[in-house]
Amino acid sequence: MAILYDAASKTLSLHTRNTTYQMQIGATGHLLHLYFGRRVDAVHMDYCIIPSDRGFSPNPYEARYTREISLDTLPQEYPGANSGDFRVPALDCLSANGAVGTDLRYLRHEIRAGKYALPGLPAAFAGAGEAETLSITLGDAATGLEVELLYGVFEAADMLTRAAIIHNNGTSAVTLNRVGSLCLDIPFGRWELLHLHGRHSMERNAERAPLMRGMQTVESRRGASSHHHNPFVALLEPAATETRGECVGILPLYSGNHRTDIEVDQTDSVRVVSGINPDMFSWQLTPGDSFAAPEAAFCFTDEGLGDLSNRLHRFIRRHIIRSPWKDRCRPVLINSWEAMLFDFDADRVMRLAEQAAALGVEMLVLDDGWFGARNSDLEGLGDWTPNAAKLPGGLKPLSDAVHALGMKFGLWIEPEMVNEISALYAEHPDWALTVPGRNPAFGRNQLVLDMGRAEVVDYLYGVFSALLRDEGIDYIKWDMNRNMTDVYSRALPPDRQREASHRYMLGVYDLLDRLTTAFPEVLFEGCAGGGGRFDAGMLHYTPQIWCSDDTDAIERVAIQLGTSVAYPASTMGAHVSVCPNQQTGRTVPFGTRGIVAMSGTFGYELDPAQLTEDERRQVRAQIDRFHRWYDVIQYGDLNRLTELADRGDFTAWEFASPDKSRALLNVVTTHTRANHPGAHVRLRGLDPGAMYKIDEICYEGCVNPSMDVPLDGAALEGRVLSGASLMYAGFTLPPLMGDYPGAQVSFIRVDTDGGVG
Ligand code: DGJ
Repeated sequence: MAILYDAASKTLSLHTRNTTYQMQIGATGHLLHLYFGRRVDAVHMDYCIIPSDRGFSPNPYEARYTREISLDTLPQEYPGANSGDFRVPALDCLSANGAVGTDLRYLRHEIRAGKYALPGLPAAFAGAGEAETLSITLGDAATGLEVELLYGVFEAADMLTRAAIIHNNGTSAVTLNRVGSLCLDIPFGRWELLHLHGRHSMERNAERAPLMRGMQTVESRRGASSHHHNPFVALLEPAATETRGECVGILPLYSGNHRTDIEVDQTDSVRVVSGINPDMFSWQLTPGDSFAAPEAAFCFTDEGLGDLSNRLHRFIRRHIIRSPWKDRCRPVLINSWEAMLFDFDADRVMRLAEQAAALGVEMLVLDDGWFGARNSDLEGLGDWTPNAAKLPGGLKPLSDAVHALGMKFGLWIEPEMVNEISALYAEHPDWALTVPGRNPAFGRNQLVLDMGRAEVVDYLYGVFSALLRDEGIDYIKWDMNRNMTDVYSRALPPDRQREASHRYMLGVYDLLDRLTTAFPEVLFEGCAGGGGRFDAGMLHYTPQIWCSDDTDAIERVAIQLGTSVAYPASTMGAHVSVCPNQQTGRTVPFGTRGIVAMSGTFGYELDPAQLTEDERRQVRAQIDRFHRWYDVIQYGDLNRLTELADRGDFTAWEFASPDKSRALLNVVTTHTRANHPGAHVRLRGLDPGAMYKIDEICYEGCVNPSMDVPLDGAALEGRVLSGASLMYAGFTLPPLMGDYPGAQVSFIRVDTDGGVG
């Protein structure tokens, strides 16, 4: 049993393999948080709460003469507002009589086998015996609200999930102004906040800073989880590194306006409240109605950030992504975008496909520009019939011809948007989000469809299900190229307009759910101008997401390793593109570009006809290497061998198979220096008692101007070293010279007699 209730002490304990989460029904009926951390069995940790009078901290009515008892200082599971706790609330609402807030008291709880689901929202799922659910219901007498707190306990995965469903059991409507997915009070300790910030073409850079007293917020108000502030956050003890120290990770499964508030209060206690962003949000809950807050997954480790990441990676791969593609090698693709932009026709596309097929590429993806009057981003969005001038025969002859090459055929779509210059907008101008009487702001020349309207979602389902049924499509790239402004739904009454942003997300999830359920074999890749909606909510439906519009390999090292703090390599769309790079103008060796792209779902975004003979040879070799190592990259453990904050001369990371039989070391030099000692790293995730053969050393883009002799990996290949020596003494590469050289070194466990172990 992962969930235990002790009636004598009124404590509820959630145990995973290595962690314990404990709460208590307090004397006043408030649900108190006691502990989250390393596993502790058979002890009630209510002794950790020291009642004391802090002054100016109010007391609940039943304890009105006991100054030591205050909601303002007690750690809690789901605090309301305006009833004695001045810290950030999980729930904030307005009653019909104008009263603000709630005073939530325990009513009942239930322990169930299996994992709860959430209506209309992405949620982690479990196979038989993999999870248990705890449902705790709190009630507010004044409003009649009942709050069902849901806890999913994944014992073997060492992960917990939380969500909340608010029911209106009262007699009048209540307006919800804030509904948290979780509240996590951490009464003791000094913590640092790690979050993934960025901008378009520079997403998910990891930033870590000490918490200050007061409030720190990670949020998006853009209608998408955003390039700018990813919903994932972690708290780390200041001494935590990749391999040591306490870390808590919180992974919201939500793709819209999110907010995580981290408040350090008067006693240095930390409160984290995460959920839908209360800005631009409210929800009218009429009697009998329910509202579900999105789920958040979270975990604790005392073994450093690397362990936290791998725990999240395994959980995302096994319990969040539902596509059957999560367990399959993704086809190596060629995407038309950087090679052709809008300038193509069927012949040019076929030439691209033929050239790529000859190099071993397995799927052609036709990006933007194949439909309507789409010759630039000015027009045509919304008109999902093939552009007659470019594809006179339509899509099917093209997909047939691509299939005849032995390749899969993929297609780009952007369902949620419309150009003002389009047949769809002419017919349904009211389907776009615009404020009556005000000209809307444009983004990339387009407007946003009101995905909260059932008829819009039904229409889009009709269009795209027909495409997937009739046109021979194996893969969809689902793009979203602007953020939301002028949020006003013509389908909602004035007093419900603040529901529009969340209803939009529910509509997007509904469309994704219907399409991915109807076409489970189609591989979906999410995208939002690169990684503008790279989150666990989207990953529930799309097993991979285009990581960034920045394809520069050196920038990608930071982007992909930042992304890897929470998300596995199997989710990161990554391609080799041309140099000078279209986003930065930088030139990086072709081989180094391959190392970086191979650390995600591998592909190309260039015209193979423009490649030199040597580059064509390298493409074949890269695809071959990717095929030999994809299972370790996609399902293995990731070890960041250089710390994220270390802006040293090189960055190194390693994929190790869970059975410790194989490891792939990747090194990229980001700053070449004279007289360098060489990149020294200590491998991880090997068996110290086992022996490993250096299988292959690929030096990429190295020059040696003084001797003019290229580095030769063969000198060390075949050498057998112990796991202990590779992990404790480490492995040193010779100085890599040139612009952005890299190296990829593979290790395979062998028997002591030299056979593969
Ligand atoms: C943004 C995407 O990130 C690009 O890869 C490309 O698909 C363009 N949109 C097409 O408009």
